[in-house]
Amino acid sequence: GASPGATPGPNRIAVVAHRGSSEDVPEHTLAAYRKAIEDGADALECDVRLTADGHLVCVHDRRVDRTSNGRGAVSALELQDLAALDFGSWRGLGESPDRDDSPRHERTSVLTLERLLELIADSGRRVELAVETKHPTRWAGRVEERLLALLGRFGLTEPPAGDPSAVRVMSFSARSLQRVREAAPRVPTVYLMQFVSPRLRDGRLPGGAGIAGPSMRIVRNHPEYVARAHRAGNQVHVWTVDAPGDVERCAALGVDAIITNRPRQVLSQLGRR
Ligand code: G3P
Ligand code: CA
Repeated sequence: GASPGATPGPNRIAVVAHRGSSEDVPEHTLAAYRKAIEDGADALECDVRLTADGHLVCVHDRRVDRTSNGRGAVSALELQDLAALDFGSWRGLGESPDRDDSPRHERTSVLTLERLLELIADSGRRVELAVETKHPTRWAGRVEERLLALLGRFGLTEPPAGDPSAVRVMSFSARSLQRVREAAPRVPTVYLMQFVSPRLRDGRLPGGAGIAGPSMRIVRNHPEYVARAHRAGNQVHVWTVDAPGDVERCAALGVDAIITNRPRQVLSQLGRR
């Protein structure tokens, strides 16, 4: 379908910072996103979850254990509980917050989506946001409702006529994306896929999402998928592309966006810095 597209014009691959510049800085922290903006990323990727008191926070896992010095499910904690935890002074890439030999990063509180939107608004240039709803179905529409209300406050759900949207919503849940399209038809939606089910091999997407979000594994094993998605009228945004060989493959196949933990290196490989 001809759903609203995202990002740059033809032939320019958008570089999207996955959880911020998360190879260098702990993921989903303000510092990781600041670095991504400095690195020149075209867009920032973040996962969002609802706290017990209904705030959207940028946390990937169901629990805070891996990425903070706390314990427990995000959905069981209130924002003030999360704000008391440290999400910064650990490394996060297979290392433990409890280990003494982990490299040190600055202490930092949980990042709210609102704060991330402020950072983007203050950046002084166009920086797009690709926000992923994590396990939204258990909240019966509240995640999408809160998300669109917040994006609306930042003027992001109704871009000026003719302008491409600066925000897109991604999800592994087709239902979540359907809700977004119903409530905010101008916000592009990205259907994320770990594997391609046989019924999606032709490049079409459930419910007419305008952008396919295949894993790098899909692109490696089924490179023909990219052309099929394009023929079906969909952009292709691939995750998570860190290895130079994979960047090369994506570029050769003409994907529309590369979602990576190392935007600086990818931009430089693409000759953009
Ligand atoms: O950008 C999509 C990608 O982030 C999906 O996987 O687990 O990293 O959220 P995950
Ligand atoms: Ca994600």
